Amino acid sequence: MTSFVIFLGLFLLVFCHDEMRQLLDSNCDDYLEERVTSGTNARPGTTPWIAAISNGTNFFCAGTLVHPRFVLTAAHCIKNNQQFLVSLGMYDITCPEEKCPEIKNYDVIKAIHHPHFNDFTNENDIAILKLSVEVVYNEYIRSICIVTGDGLKTSSIVNFSAYGWGATENLYLSPILKTINLSHTPQSCLRFYEESQICAGAERGDTCHGDSGGPLVANITYRGHVFPTLIGVTSYGSKFCNASANYANVTVFRQWIKNTISAYNYDEDKESLLDENCSSTWDKNGSVHEPWKLILTTRFDGSNDFHWFTFATLITNRFVLTIVHNLPTDIKKLLVRASGGVSFTVKSAHKHPQFTDFNTSYANDIALLELDRNVRYSQNLAPICFRPTLQMSENPPTSLTVIPFAARHTLHYENFTVIDRYHCCVTIGLVIYENQICVNESSSGLYAGCVFGANEYTSSGDKFFLHGIVSFRKNDVIILTNITSYADWITETVNFK
Ligand SMILES: *[C@@H]1O[C@H](CO)[C@@H](O)[C@H](O)[C@H]1NC(C)=O
Ligand SMILES: *[C@@H]1O[C@H](CO)[C@@H](O)[C@H](O)[C@H]1NC(C)=O
Ligand SMILES: *[C@@H]1O[C@H](CO)[C@@H](O)[C@H](O)[C@H]1NC(C)=O
Ligand SMILES: *[C@@H]1O[C@H](CO)[C@@H](O)[C@H](O)[C@H]1NC(C)=O
Ligand SMILES: *[C@@H]1O[C@H](CO)[C@@H](O)[C@H](O)[C@H]1NC(C)=O
Ligand SMILES: *[C@@H]1O[C@H](CO)[C@@H](O)[C@H](O)[C@H]1NC(C)=O
Ligand SMILES: *[C@@H]1O[C@H](CO)[C@@H](O)[C@H](O)[C@H]1NC(C)=O
Ligand SMILES: *[C@@H]1O[C@H](CO)[C@@H](O)[C@H](O)[C@H]1NC(C)=O
Ligand SMILES: *[C@@H]1O[C@H](CO)[C@@H](O)[C@H](O)[C@H]1NC(C)=O
Ligand SMILES: *[C@@H]1O[C@H](CO)[C@@H](O)[C@H](O)[C@H]1NC(C)=O
Ligand SMILES: *[C@@H]1O[C@H](CO)[C@@H](O)[C@H](O)[C@H]1NC(C)=O
Ligand SMILES: *[C@@H]1O[C@H](CO)[C@@H](O)[C@H](O)[C@H]1NC(C)=O
Repeated sequence: MTSFVIFLGLFLLVFCHDEMRQLLDSNCDDYLEERVTSGTNARPGTTPWIAAISNGTNFFCAGTLVHPRFVLTAAHCIKNNQQFLVSLGMYDITCPEEKCPEIKNYDVIKAIHHPHFNDFTNENDIAILKLSVEVVYNEYIRSICIVTGDGLKTSSIVNFSAYGWGATENLYLSPILKTINLSHTPQSCLRFYEESQICAGAERGDTCHGDSGGPLVANITYRGHVFPTLIGVTSYGSKFCNASANYANVTVFRQWIKNTISAYNYDEDKESLLDENCSSTWDKNGSVHEPWKLILTTRFDGSNDFHWFTFATLITNRFVLTIVHNLPTDIKKLLVRASGGVSFTVKSAHKHPQFTDFNTSYANDIALLELDRNVRYSQNLAPICFRPTLQMSENPPTSLTVIPFAARHTLHYENFTVIDRYHCCVTIGLVIYENQICVNESSSGLYAGCVFGANEYTSSGDKFFLHGIVSFRKNDVIILTNITSYADWITETVNFK
């Protein structure tokens, strides 16, 4: 019965397109035929996801490769250490480089522990290490599978295997990777947290010091293949390593793992910003200041007064971004106003060449305006952050933040849910293009040209990044132009002088 339930879950995972994406790394199950053998010990090549963690000289913990760029381990492993080296493809720790060319060492550029890790109770004892470069998978090195969807019921799994180079009965670290079969023994651990910790043990033997951070694995079978799946992370046990031990329950942390990897999965070398001096005055208390926000005013025929008609966003010291529709053809009628009475005339307007409003929703509703002179940055006037190169983030944002135009200063932000293109199209009765984003409506003062963005991690701290600008609204939906998808056009236009 148990295995039937698991089988069914995996069937859905494997055969239903949408569900398949619920593996953290879909390349994890690309197993070689001969791997699926049973053995009584860890054998070279059967555990391509095991990681040995050292400080360069001394080995102290194990970990598990879960993604080409990330290794999962225990938070207590990284607590007192500053420097980490991850070795993959490792079986015998003492094997010299020339005899074991399959062993590859990776520097760790970021160690992220769970924000609620409790040193004393070992609650949330889980951490992620970001490697300096992406790992190339081979026979000896490959990620383990982690089910990030809801398809796997781990509570019914009775048998596990744990792996590590930890202390053996005679209390020395083992040079050879050891494995032990454990069973789920929920009653025999002193646990503080029922759900987030898994208790497992064996008649004889246990995981021990040095095994920390290593994997607790269950073999899950489908289509005749064994599918080793990460269920737990070795956390802590008894002093003498002769009783059941606690493992962090990976299922509980799957969302944190997924989100952390997607937030940190960018290439440092390519972390370029369109304007490195972009501002992000984002206060912890939720108030935001938008030094990039400009007001576009226009002069109507026969009048000398300029009237507000839309918003524009400063993206470099010479260019502002706005929407095309209802932009006057005569740029002499435009005046760009910034706070403090500063204003600019427009030297040239660059409407997107494929802009169209032909009886549909506006396609490519984006324009760049070149100002008459360079902007002098100040606390109240600075460009928004924007990445000219696409990040490797696997998941598009599901929520975007906007600062509603209610008052001019210290404002609070709102988060809006991104609606999928299909539902958006049905709701508004218009074609929705690839480069548009729909978000649900609110009563706040949102006008054409308003910025939607997200707070994102960068090497110099969190910054607010531009994602979309309001194009139009209909039937309680706001349609944004997805600015990210115009990165190339923006970069070209801005750099062509
Ligand atoms: C899982 O499969 C591997 C490889 O066949 C084997 O070494 C390990 O003992 C198995 N673990 C369990 C709990 O069956
Ligand atoms: C662990 O269990 C598996 C499956 O029951 C078995 O094939 C393997 O030999 C066992 N390994 C050890 C080290 O006892
Ligand atoms: C690694 O840790 C050991 C033991 O704590 C220490 O003696 C050694 O100097 C450390 N090595 C480096 C490179 O920090
Ligand atoms: C791990 O957490 C999941 C999700 O909360 C839960 O369903 C499962 O029972 C837990 N596993 C164990 C072995 O306690
Ligand atoms: C768990 O392991 C034990 C001992 O190896 C074995 O007898 C039992 O059949 C296994 N249970 C499952 C569900 O694989
Ligand atoms: C574990 O080992 C210690 C020290 O040898 C001993 O006092 C204790 O009874 C053992 N516990 C179990 C569960 O075997
Ligand atoms: C960014 O600011 C630094 C220091 O204020 C300045 O030297 C540099 O020229 C600025 N860069 C741009 C592109 O404005
Ligand atoms: C939020 O922070 C800003 C600037 O740090 C401050 O002016 C404002 O009073 C704070 N608001 C609240 C509600 O604490
Ligand atoms: C769009 O225009 C075409 C051609 O003029 C027309 O056949 C079609 O009905 C229009 N669609 C909508 C939704 O107005
Ligand atoms: C915006 O476009 C980029 C590039 O095409 C895409 O990666 C991203 O997921 C889109 N954003 C949304 C919210 O759809
Ligand atoms: C809009 O988003 C809010 C916040 O996520 C949600 O509560 C609300 O149900 C959504 N409305 C629609 C129409 O989707
Ligand atoms: C709203 O979005 C901001 C920025 O993207 C994020 O920091 C914050 O946690 C979100 N707040 C909520 C309640 O989701």
